[in-house]
Amino acid sequence: MNNKTKPIGLYPENFARFYDVIYHSVRDSVDNEYFQNVIKQTKGRILEIGVGTGRLFTNALNGGADIYGLDISPAMLSFLLKKIPENQHYRISLQNIVDFEYDFRFNLIIAPFRVMMHLLEKETQLKALNNVYSHLDKSGTFIFDTFVPDLNRLLNGFDNFVDFNGEYEPGKKLKRSVSTVPDLINQLINIRFNLEWDDDSGPKQEYWNVPLRFFFRFELEHLIERSKFKKYRILGDYDGNELNRESKEFIVVCQKE
Ligand SMILES: C[S@@+](CC[C@H](N)C(=O)[O-])C[C@H]1O[C@@H](n2cnc3c(N)ncnc32)[C@H](O)[C@@H]1O
Repeated sequence: MNNKTKPIGLYPENFARFYDVIYHSVRDSVDNEYFQNVIKQTKGRILEIGVGTGRLFTNALNGGADIYGLDISPAMLSFLLKKIPENQHYRISLQNIVDFEYDFRFNLIIAPFRVMMHLLEKETQLKALNNVYSHLDKSGTFIFDTFVPDLNRLLNGFDNFVDFNGEYEPGKKLKRSVSTVPDLINQLINIRFNLEWDDDSGPKQEYWNVPLRFFFRFELEHLIERSKFKKYRILGDYDGNELNRESKEFIVVCQKE
């Protein structure tokens, strides 16, 4: 990766190691079908930004999609590369959404599961949107998601909320808990993940602190309207419903033209 922009959301080794075990369990049922469908409906090249360990990417590639992936976290990509044949490794690169480069364009670009929330500053958010815009074909679409802030949860935070408690291999335990502290003036949720697992050498534990930038609806709208994208819709769930009082997701679908 070039060093043009210093990345913030770098995922540590052990979080990458256990990512699939945790998120195939807690996230696939929410968004997998939606993203596999939009990928299947696309004729032409696709890019997944923040491809991670390939939770969504590997299915799409195995299904015949002409899909590429980029991510800023070497640890996440190392697990993805182990899952796909070597002659497909050219599809994966270590790059940042803010300043990635390809010498070709895409019909569909997706940034699933909170990738944009790792961008904390409006300048970087805008740069990212405009960089995506310039890598789309004329008829291209960009889709990203952020969560609808739940004010009660935001203010009260989580205190060691256990979101995964199972095994990562037969007989080997893995537990993850999450604590959060809001920083309202900077519109951040400071998250502390706590991983505890059984290793051959005994019990292990690791913390990871990561801030996520949350968005409200009209800030998202203003942001996109400041970008080169002018045509967009914001859906409220992965079934394609419009936003309503029950919506938990902002699914932002931007059209180049
Ligand atoms: C929650 S994971 C989502 C991974 C995958 N898209 C999925 O749905 O499972 C967010 C990913 O975004 C990546 N990421 C964070 N900031 C990024 C940036 N500035 N540019 C590219 N990738 C970024 C992280 O390294 C991580 O792999």
